[in-house]
Amino acid sequence: MKKKGIFIIFEGPDRSGKSTQAKLLVKWLKEKKYKIVLTREPGGTKLSENIRKILLDTHSNISSLSELLLYEAARAQHTSDIIMPALKKGKVVISDRFTLASIAYQGYGRQLPIKTVETLNKIATAGLKPDITIVLNIPDRVFNERERLVEKFLGADRIESASSNFRKRVNKAYKILSNKPGVIKINAVNSIEAIHAEIIKKIEHKFSH
Ligand code: TMP
Repeated sequence: MKKKGIFIIFEGPDRSGKSTQAKLLVKWLKEKKYKIVLTREPGGTKLSENIRKILLDTHSNISSLSELLLYEAARAQHTSDIIMPALKKGKVVISDRFTLASIAYQGYGRQLPIKTVETLNKIATAGLKPDITIVLNIPDRVFNERERLVEKFLGADRIESASSNFRKRVNKAYKILSNKPGVIKINAVNSIEAIHAEIIKKIEHKFSH
């Protein structure tokens, strides 16, 4: 059966405000009487949430390849059990992260071959592609200020407490990836409300019936 719903992804570096924006979009769509599933990666199913705990545990010693495979395992279960069934029912599925995160974090960040990440993304999702991908980029000024205060952020979780160079590569990756055709690029410099309004303006044509 073909999917009937709409699949929307929010992406961006850690603390780019994407989760807040995902929730605001849910509210907007609910007011328009759409049936919504809000979910996240890694997560969304019991197995994927358990994998999330392992991945974010600061005590886990995980190689880059194992890390990628764990994200993909979580994604495979999430796609087959939550995302695809909801899309087949015609729902709007909004996911806080999806395949692009593995390109940014494991490809650019951990420096695994991008081709490998793309191949595994395709296998884990059975080729499912989002209809809308919104990338929130952190302005350089904010990113640099944060790097100066990095001690305060260290220890939040295993990925967030990776090296500064890793974070820089991920941040840069999202800037590159947000220029891909079809991706909605948002410079997350404005207020929460202004960013929400900008997102709505860019996607409302998809919800005009
Ligand atoms: P979150 O904080 O956005 O919920 O995501 C959890 C962490 O996992 C975040 O630091 C980004 C990271 N991540 C990856 O490294 N690769 C992935 O494929 C995904 C989905 C998330």
